[in-house]
Amino acid sequence: MQSFSALAADFASYFDRKHFPKEPQTLYAPNDYFLSLGGKRIRPILCLMGNELFTDIHPSAWEVATAIEMFHNFTLIHDDIMDKAPLRRGLPTVHEKFGQNTALLAGDVMLIKAYECLSKVPSSILLPIFSLFNKIATEVCEGQQLDMDFEQRTNVVLDDYLLMIEKKTSVLLAASLVMGAIVGGSGERNQQLLYQFGRKLGLAFQVQDDYLDAFGDPQKFGKQVGGDILADKKTFLLIHALETADKADVAILQSWLGKQGDNKVNDVLSVYRKCGIDHWALSLKNKFLDEALADLDQIAVVSARKKPLIELAEYLIKRDV
Ligand code: IPE
Ligand code: IPE
Ligand code: MG
Ligand code: MG
Ligand code: MG
Repeated sequence: MQSFSALAADFASYFDRKHFPKEPQTLYAPNDYFLSLGGKRIRPILCLMGNELFTDIHPSAWEVATAIEMFHNFTLIHDDIMDKAPLRRGLPTVHEKFGQNTALLAGDVMLIKAYECLSKVPSSILLPIFSLFNKIATEVCEGQQLDMDFEQRTNVVLDDYLLMIEKKTSVLLAASLVMGAIVGGSGERNQQLLYQFGRKLGLAFQVQDDYLDAFGDPQKFGKQVGGDILADKKTFLLIHALETADKADVAILQSWLGKQGDNKVNDVLSVYRKCGIDHWALSLKNKFLDEALADLDQIAVVSARKKPLIELAEYLIKRDV
């Protein structure tokens, strides 16, 4: 069983090569640019760990992991257009640097590359891998649409938020693990438990992402801090603050929804701080982490094999990037 850092190094040496042709460079240079910015590579590592939970890593797992990372990068390029985000991984977003039309196509071609990689798995597992991939890719689109719909709404409750983040984020983490497990020959029951582990972990992961969007260190975070506040995203921070802040503070929050202004981020952040958001984020993350670990615990393999996944789970909810 390999650690996150060992797998990350192996995956990087497999993945960091030229994936796209040279011409037209107006299309492919943006893709090369974006992939060169790296990222944490959590999903491909989850895929490799999902395989290794059951057996030695099969050569196809590298292709599936590559497909997943390509798909993830495609979602980010398009997400940054939707979120009007200026920064990603510490540098300008693709649409900011190359224009929106090119960013759309760069994302499209990245998605096609994902399918090309995925199609290289042995025919015996092609169907289950494709079915799962298509199912969760559809859910990601649904989650992304809900995320945007919620920007316009003022009555979003925690359960709506949880469903939205499950679709836009969790299912890809869950499926990354399970696709690895399928390559590794796992049985149905273990796949289901692993999916649930990934789903809960994914919820905790997006909670942390939303927390960092408000309170991350701009030097480390690599994205525009306060972007969710500016876009009126209905994160657990806003939902919780609207439910628990005193009248005057709720009025401050409401006065900023649908509006822009120099003090928006600071005003909202100070209400969040007053509501004890740190504590809330922590309890939400711990609840999901505990549930995730309970599912992992039930998977029928010796516990030593689960160690890297437990370490990764703990890192993901504490990360500052
Ligand atoms: C960002 O994912 C998008 C979310 C689902 C929150 P990551 O935080 O994994 O992004 P990179 O790939 O490491 O940059
Ligand atoms: C993104 O959620 C989820 C997907 C890309 C599918 P966010 O919009 O919160 O991700 P970041 O913060 O831009 O990475
Ligand atoms: Mg975004
Ligand atoms: Mg988004
Ligand atoms: Mg975010």
